[in-house]
Amino acid sequence: MKVALVTSSMPLAPWQHGIARAFSEAGLAAEVVPWEGRQPRSAIGARYALVWLPPAELFEVEHDLEVVFNLGAGVDRLLANAVVPERLPIVRLVDAGMAPRMAEYVCFAIARATRGLERFGPGGLRDWNASRPRGKPPTVGVLGAGAIGSKIAEAAAMFNYPVRVWSRTSRAFASMESFAGLEQLDVFLAGSNFLVNALPLTRDTENLLDRARLSKLPEGAHVINVGRGATIVDADLLALLDDGHLGGATLDVFRVEPLPDDDPYWSHPKVIVTPHLSGPTPVAPAATQIADAIVQLERGVPVSSLPGYVDRARGY
Ligand SMILES: NC(=O)c1ccc[n+]([C@@H]2O[C@H](COP(=O)([O-])OP(=O)(O)OC[C@H]3O[C@@H](n4cnc5c(N)ncnc54)[C@H](OP(=O)(O)O)[C@@H]3O)[C@@H](O)[C@H]2O)c1
Repeated sequence: MKVALVTSSMPLAPWQHGIARAFSEAGLAAEVVPWEGRQPRSAIGARYALVWLPPAELFEVEHDLEVVFNLGAGVDRLLANAVVPERLPIVRLVDAGMAPRMAEYVCFAIARATRGLERFGPGGLRDWNASRPRGKPPTVGVLGAGAIGSKIAEAAAMFNYPVRVWSRTSRAFASMESFAGLEQLDVFLAGSNFLVNALPLTRDTENLLDRARLSKLPEGAHVINVGRGATIVDADLLALLDDGHLGGATLDVFRVEPLPDDDPYWSHPKVIVTPHLSGPTPVAPAATQIADAIVQLERGVPVSSLPGYVDRARGY
């Protein structure tokens, strides 16, 4: 069995070794072929493609492909590029070690803001009596209750924050309020002192957080974005930070990446910018997840029953 590997901007070697190891551990007899940069660029007869931002040529040339595995959780760019023919199912990574890292990032951002950690450090405060958070802990509202959002919500709950989640369909969580659908979004926002975006980018979530919606957040609320940049209308977020309604923002993802040098976020006093590092994909668990899925497929399990099967109509 031939498997095409396209890593695009991600380094090839760790993926090549990680996939080879996971396939061998799963007892899969497969040849994993780095697809880019081959000469001549003819078909290898791949049945599976493991890809990150693949070229259209892959699908023009490889006619035996059965399933495309996305080497990440988000499929927004893959679907937007429309390179994968409709007939080919897409399977994405589900957590695969990203969710705990992202939960850690979010909880640190909350702790940083609630404790005012930026006041300290070289040149900063040396005051043993510096103010500490007291009283009622802020409520953390998580947009998206999937593999990543639910892990973030659980982590925040573990630190005793009141937590609420919002998703498309109703979800039940022990000791967390849950909200679903646009009709419950405003009331969800109105009770979220920290708003964490862990939604996929789809036509329904693009520009979801505009001025009207962000204005529903309580005075002084802090926005944390680890989902995708285009869910937030940047000018509206900046306006609400500037007029004092919002207290701050911690942003890991942006509409344009890398974030352009002249973007106002870089120098905004209320904004922390990080370069899309909240949820790096750990190769070993990702490779194991893909190998396990291929074992299932080879046993005849329908692709639509795999956990990361992408529903193209929903966009995630
Ligand atoms: N910053 C990073 O480094 C990084 C790393 C990995 C992933 N991500 C981003 O995180 C996203 C989420 O990943 P995931 O694995 O958690 O996805 P997932 O398991 O598919 O969960 C998506 C969640 O969003 C909800 N949702 C989708 N569309 C919605 C809508 N229109 N209205 C309300 N809720 C909606 C879903 O609702 P239902 O539960 O009702 O389906 C689900 O709860 C990825 O798509 C990616 O963009 C970022």
